[in-house]
Formats: sequence, C-alpha cells, structure tokens
Amino acid sequence: MVRKNQLPQFPNDYLNEKANEYDSSKWMERNQKRSTLLSIQYLFDKKLNDQEEDGIERGDSFLILDLGCGTGFSSEILIENGYKVIGIDILPDMILKTREKKKTLKEKKNLELILADINYLPIKTNVIDHVISISSYNFITYGKENYGEKVKLLGETAKYLNKILKKRGRIIIEFYPKDDHELDIFNKSFINNGFEGFMVKNNPMQKSGQTFLLLKKS
Ligand SMILES: C[S@@+](CC[C@H](N)C(=O)[O-])C[C@H]1O[C@@H](n2cnc3c(N)ncnc32)[C@H](O)[C@@H]1O
Repeated sequence: MVRKNQLPQFPNDYLNEKANEYDSSKWMERNQKRSTLLSIQYLFDKKLNDQEEDGIERGDSFLILDLGCGTGFSSEILIENGYKVIGIDILPDMILKTREKKKTLKEKKNLELILADINYLPIKTNVIDHVISISSYNFITYGKENYGEKVKLLGETAKYLNKILKKRGRIIIEFYPKDDHELDIFNKSFINNGFEGFMVKNNPMQKSGQTFLLLKKS
C-alpha cells in the first residue's frame, strides 16, 4: 500500500503491483497535483528576481523537464497549464502508465517521455526552459551510502542541469530530505554548481519533511 504517513522506499514502492497502487491512489494523485501547482507558482516567485528584467512571464509556453515523472500526475498538470513537457523516469513500471495516459491527453504532442536516469540525462545543452521535480529528487542518490559518493553524484547532476537549461532557467524541486544534513548536501550541490535561490518549508524550524528548493541559474 502507498501509505499516507510513511515515506516511500525506492525502488520497491514503485515496482509491479506497487506501481498500480501508486497510480490508483486518489490521495497520491491529489498530493502530487497540489505540489505541482504550488511549484508552478514558485517558478514565478519574484524573490528569485535580482532585478525586474530577471523575471519570467507566466504566459510563455516554456519547455519544462519533469524529473522523476512517475505515472504522470505532475506532467498532466504542467500540460494543462500550457507548457510543453519532457518527462523522465528510471522505472518502466511507472513511466509506462504515463505513456498510457498520454494517449488520452488533448495536447499529447506537448508531452515527450524518456526512460532515463536523472543523473545521466540524455538531453542536449541549452534546450530546457525550466525544471520541475516533484517527490523524486531525494531518490537520486539511491545506492550511494558513502557521503563523498553522494556529494560527487549530486554535484555532477546539478552541473549538467545547469548546462541543459537556457539563460534565466529555473529549477523547482519538491522533495523529502530525511534530515538537515541531507537537506544541506542537496542544497549545496546546486549552490556550488552555478545556481542561486532559497528554500521553502512548511515550518521554518523543520529539519526534514516536505521542502521546496527554488533555484535559478546565477
Ligand atoms: C513519487 S514518484 C513520482 C512522482 C511524480 N511527480 C508523479 O506525478 O507521479 C517518484 C519517481 O521518481 C523516480 N526516480 C527515482 N530515482 C530516479 C532517477 N535516478 N532517475 C529518474 N527517475 C527516478 C521513480 O522511478 C518514481 O517514479
């Protein structure tokens, strides 16, 4: 079962039957869609602008990279909001469900899906307007137990995200670090690789749990 009060385990909670349960959970759908809508608001957060001309406009038809697109709840909301989307996921069981949903979308031409690892993105440099990642980014260090290995991988991934983004590109990540130490290494991977920004938590004192990173190319 996808449980409400427990953080899911990657990859076991997204394989076979678990992928079906995830996709048919109304609670999960609501949550993913709510976090995606909030992330769209954060994309245009004026606090990310150093100067007026730094701002990006809501009406523009951006190409958004949805990192860890899962079964497509977030991609669906991005498409409904008028964006073109490239969804990336590492698990066939999850992304195949997005592929099925794509057939029913009115704007299906606006969604491209790629089975790939966020850490090794098959995307050319300077082509993506913005990146959004909902409830996926904390899994990307899966298999790396050692602190040094995690820092290296996160740094390399952030560096490549910087390369694929166009000028003024922004990244909004909603994720669930398990403690303040983990939050710090994820945040620093961006700050040390050409991004600036800030984070938003439900409670400013919290050391883990739902956190949004709001970043732009510096
Ligand atoms: C909570 S789910 C997906 C949430 C998604 N926003 C949605 O609307 O369904 C997290 C996803 O992250 C994916 N994921 C985890 N590590 C990944 C990686 N290294 N590269 C690509 N996808 C990854 C998992 O396969 C899983 O589908």
